[in-house]
Amino acid sequence: MRMKVKAAVVNAVNGPYEFEELELQELQANEVIVKLVASGICHSDEALRVGDAEFPLPAVLGHEGAGIVEQVGAGVRDFQVGDQVVMAYNSCGTCPSCRTGHPSSCVSWTTLNMSGARADGSPIFKKLDGTPVSNFFTQSSFSTYTITNVNNLIKVDDDADLRLVGPLGCGFLTGAGTVVNGLQVKVGDSIVIFGTGAVGLGALMMAKVEGCATIIAVDIHDSRLDISKKLGATHTINSKTENLAERIADITNGVGVNFSIDTTGVSAVMKAAIDVLGIGGVTAPIAVTPNSMEMNSFMDLVLLNRSVKGILMGDAIPQLAIPKLIQLHKEGKFAFDQLVKFYDFEQINEASADSNSGVTIKPILLIDKTYRQNEPLPQ
Ligand SMILES: NC(=O)c1ccc[n+]([C@@H]2O[C@H](COP(=O)([O-])OP(=O)(O)OC[C@H]3O[C@@H](n4cnc5c(N)ncnc54)[C@H](O)[C@@H]3O)[C@@H](O)[C@H]2O)c1
Ligand SMILES: [Zn+2]
Ligand SMILES: [Zn+2]
Repeated sequence: MRMKVKAAVVNAVNGPYEFEELELQELQANEVIVKLVASGICHSDEALRVGDAEFPLPAVLGHEGAGIVEQVGAGVRDFQVGDQVVMAYNSCGTCPSCRTGHPSSCVSWTTLNMSGARADGSPIFKKLDGTPVSNFFTQSSFSTYTITNVNNLIKVDDDADLRLVGPLGCGFLTGAGTVVNGLQVKVGDSIVIFGTGAVGLGALMMAKVEGCATIIAVDIHDSRLDISKKLGATHTINSKTENLAERIADITNGVGVNFSIDTTGVSAVMKAAIDVLGIGGVTAPIAVTPNSMEMNSFMDLVLLNRSVKGILMGDAIPQLAIPKLIQLHKEGKFAFDQLVKFYDFEQINEASADSNSGVTIKPILLIDKTYRQNEPLPQ
């Protein structure tokens, strides 16, 4: 018998999340059914919901899920029923990129994560009337249960609190990985981070761990800049009320910075992220955005040996990086728990609105409220 699940479904561009009963389809050999405990909401979910990135609807979004293995497919060797897991994105595991440690450059990345169906075209969810419903990232964590691929899964220790760790699967991993793998900052380097949401603050905390000497956080909300200071920013700039170029020149003695990251996706900000670079600097525009950036290739890049680098999912290997982030969190060096706010699963529309308005940096939906119900929320 096929399992029925309760999922938050987006039926139309700009439509709300609507709770529906769906049917999980047959489990394939390399797949696992996960019972969700909690899921973060990432800005990329919102980008799909409002149509900033194309995606086939109806869909179950969500790609920062944490839960417990409920059932394993016939070919699964590394996971057992009862394992605590975080889900990240899917990758094929066998292409040259996967084999050389760059699964976010997997040749099948778009098919496996953005097509809405499995690689063989089959759906993971259907409505009770038989309508196929797209999955996202082979994860679709806005559901009580989901089918995911073994390549999505990261086993975490039994002492990890699944109510907290889901967002390590995307937002915080992306920020942290961009600094370590994508930009490969060195001790003493300088970096400007534009936009201090979950991705920007993940980058900021990792820049501190890696020993960057100058870490400049830029945002338009003072409350975000206050948090940035607490988490290790050496300087903060409110680009709405301060002159960005003057402040950067002042802080860097006129030479500019080694690295910058844009998480805002605003055209002018992406350009500003080039302008703050010194000679040989690298900028990573990593927002999911329909906007373009305008620059002159010679004046802005060539003449100063600068580069622009796209970095997907922090170019990280989730199975190696997420346990490290959990360890850094235990040591107090990656305090992402200070950035989360918990909501009931049923409050998904409110949680999403709070993320959009800036009230909440990282909303986490509690899907299985019986998990560690006698323990206080990890915050
Ligand atoms: N490249 C990837 O693999 C990847 C992975 C995950 C998320 N993302 C994307 O990264 C982006 C950031 O995600 P997030 O969850 O941190 O979002 P967020 O909305 O929480 O953070 C964005 C921040 O930018 C600030 N901001 C907005 N306009 C600004 C401006 N003009 N100047 C300065 N600051 C401004 C906001 O105040 C906010 O603090 C999103 O576009 C998301 O889709 C990319
Ligand atoms: Zn691959
Ligand atoms: Zn994401």
